[in-house]
Amino acid sequence: MYAAFRSIGAYAPEKILTNSDLSQMVDTTDAWITKRTGIKERRIAALDETTSDMGVKACEQAIERSGIAKDEIDMIICATISPDYFCMPSTATVIATKLGLSTITAFDISAACTGFVYVLSIAKAFIESGMKKNVLIVGAEKLSAITDYSDRGTCILFGDGAGAALISATENSCDAIIDVHTGSDGTYADLLMTPNGGSGSAHDALDREAAGCYMKMKGNETFKVAVRTLTSDVVSILKENRIDASAIKHFIPHQANYRIIKAVGDALNMRDEQVVLTVAKYGNTSGASIPMAINDIYESGALQAGELMLLDAFGGGLTWGSALLPFAPPS
Ligand code: UT7
Repeated sequence: MYAAFRSIGAYAPEKILTNSDLSQMVDTTDAWITKRTGIKERRIAALDETTSDMGVKACEQAIERSGIAKDEIDMIICATISPDYFCMPSTATVIATKLGLSTITAFDISAACTGFVYVLSIAKAFIESGMKKNVLIVGAEKLSAITDYSDRGTCILFGDGAGAALISATENSCDAIIDVHTGSDGTYADLLMTPNGGSGSAHDALDREAAGCYMKMKGNETFKVAVRTLTSDVVSILKENRIDASAIKHFIPHQANYRIIKAVGDALNMRDEQVVLTVAKYGNTSGASIPMAINDIYESGALQAGELMLLDAFGGGLTWGSALLPFAPPS
């Protein structure tokens, strides 16, 4: 049995936060943000809109486009670092219940911006082992809830949104997800983290440390490790599968920073038309960024059945991952 990437869906909240809005909040400018990141605007969820609310909208679209009945779905995995609840219940169980699928297997994973590649690898393994047949994978983030809007080093980067895909069992090897790589290195944990509020904090310190629940990043060091890791990961997955970069129709990297994407694309000799870019309009939506980007090319008509996609992600942990797969919508 193989695992096929059947459909995609996404949701972006209505509210737009522009660079010029941010320049009213912190000491920054549209020119600086555009030059250093390529970001022009990002979406911000409504105060009462949760990560699961956004995830549900993306899932509904992915289910509708999959040709698979909702009651055939037997597992939901959600990649998020901004769950509805701090520890439990998982955002996946909340999404499952809102979708009317409250008794199926549902759990979250935490791999930051690499989350979508991680959930893809888990879905592939469950399906190939015969344990599950139709797995809904979701990347959903309300990063605005964990962003410090007084820190110009991070608040200019992040946005909210969700993306989802339906991964299904197939006997057709042409539809199969070819390979998924995942890795991590906790020695770099301090580059990008939410330092407080977990079991590492003394119980009586939680009130004092509330602000420490926001993301902190050593941006410049993270940038350098990102370029190095993203490039080497893609080189290795292409080499192991004997696929030349020129055969990739859509290179869909995590949308953290245009300069990172450009450096990786250039190192791999990718042509501009191969590289998918959504960073200007959504900013960095962590685990949601890759499925939101896939959805963009799907909705523009640029993603056709059988075309080869290369996903590449990097994030807090540190974590990284890449995936080679054809788009295999229902015929
Ligand atoms: O998604 C997961 C992984 N995350 C990433 O991959 C993000 C990686 N990092 C980045 O994208 C970039 O490092 C940033 C966009 C965060 C920062 O860009 P940079 O080119 O690395 O800038 P920098 O941190 O080296 O700072 C350069 C200067 C500093 O001023 P001085 O010390 O040279 O006077 C900063 O204080 O830019 C200053 N600066 C800003 N200036 C205006 C930092 N942030 C801002 C800002 N507006 N928002």
